[in-house]
Amino acid sequence: MTHQETSVTAISANLRRHSSTGRALLFEFTGAHALEVAGTGRTFRTSDAKELINFGAYATFLVAASHPRIQYAAAEILSSLPGSSRAFANAFTARALQSLNRIMPAPIEKFMLLNSGSEAVEAALKLARLHTGRAAVMHLQKSYHGKTLGALAVTDAEAFRSPFASLLPESSALSRDDADACYAAITTTRPAAVIVEVVQGEGGVYPVPVPLLRAIQSACRESGALFIVDEIQTGLGRTGSMWAFEGVGLKPDVVLVGKALGAGIIPVSVVGATREAFRSFDIDPLVHSSTYGGNPLACAIATAVIEIVESEEIPQTSQEVGKRVMTALTSLVDANAALLTDVTGRGLLIGMHFANPPQAALFIKGCLKKGVITTPCLTTPNVVRLSPPADLSGAMLNRALEIFAEQLAEMGSGAASLRSELGPGMSDSGDNIPS
Ligand SMILES: Cc1ncc(COP(=O)(O)O)c(C=O)c1O
Repeated sequence: MTHQETSVTAISANLRRHSSTGRALLFEFTGAHALEVAGTGRTFRTSDAKELINFGAYATFLVAASHPRIQYAAAEILSSLPGSSRAFANAFTARALQSLNRIMPAPIEKFMLLNSGSEAVEAALKLARLHTGRAAVMHLQKSYHGKTLGALAVTDAEAFRSPFASLLPESSALSRDDADACYAAITTTRPAAVIVEVVQGEGGVYPVPVPLLRAIQSACRESGALFIVDEIQTGLGRTGSMWAFEGVGLKPDVVLVGKALGAGIIPVSVVGATREAFRSFDIDPLVHSSTYGGNPLACAIATAVIEIVESEEIPQTSQEVGKRVMTALTSLVDANAALLTDVTGRGLLIGMHFANPPQAALFIKGCLKKGVITTPCLTTPNVVRLSPPADLSGAMLNRALEIFAEQLAEMGSGAASLRSELGPGMSDSGDNIPS
């Protein structure tokens, strides 16, 4: 790449020309008029020499990628077994399996290592079909489980689903706040599986009521359906317990892990299951497989992440830091009631609920400009999602909270007109990004 091609304008034009015009426009819309050139997971540096604090990144960093143990694991594997022939077993996979087994409550003791979160969801749905011989799958309203066709069938987001109808025709949504209705629907339908998030991330950082989750679990037991808990966003301590389902006393048949397990470096996901639920994959290892699933680099990073989560008590840190953030944000709700209506979440998965989606967008954009990265909720656009790493320094945490307060004050003062602050409208010309 020549020097000229590394300019913001050239890279944006390249993105438009060879990948996604919409993606380039999104960067333009959020005001990200610079390139990301370095980052640790705690902070990211841009080409205009700004250092931004990470409170978002779609929950991929629970521990910073720069953690010495992760760096060591990556360096060790790259110099010894960077890739596998797949003709032999290797010790890195064995260590990852042992580590997963150590942190996963019994009777979950079998694991399939895959890549993306959606892929783990696909595999779990296949497992449920094989296990029960049934086709139907059920999910909660406002769920998010990914965008591949199977995962989309259990994702309750009309905008993403409707262009692809029909998905799995036997999939259906359950109420997320009527436990009796859920119980009745599951025991009547007798599906292959019900999949839930304990705290819905994309669905507005919504902690699903515990009685409803328990009713779903009972109905699954009653009807022989697999109870699948998707911990792709919540797992490994983000919500203040190692698994969000443990925090509310559930016993799933299948647990899905992803995102933070790869330390923001490499995609790695896991389908964990009881011996009984896993039987079909146990008998035929090729009924579901993936070329890069369980590759040595992913396994080494996953092992390092799990060791850090255990030795540095990340669940406890998430709980403590989360409480602090929550307290600070709650006082911001009180001070900015016309803008900010609520704060929800658990541990370090927190949602700031704005009165409307443009305000949420303006908040994200303003924080980006001031030096904090946050994330939108894809299916609940009035909610801004916060998912910082647990190992952010106190100074960074304080600075981020100050910036949130400053941004809200600025929005509240009416100094910024919503329309002008939200920036240029969508245009498809290739080279008009201000640098
Ligand atoms: C709960 C949950 N499940 C599944 C997925 C899909 O994961 P991926 O984007 O890695 O396919 C996500 C992604 O945000 C998620 O939050």
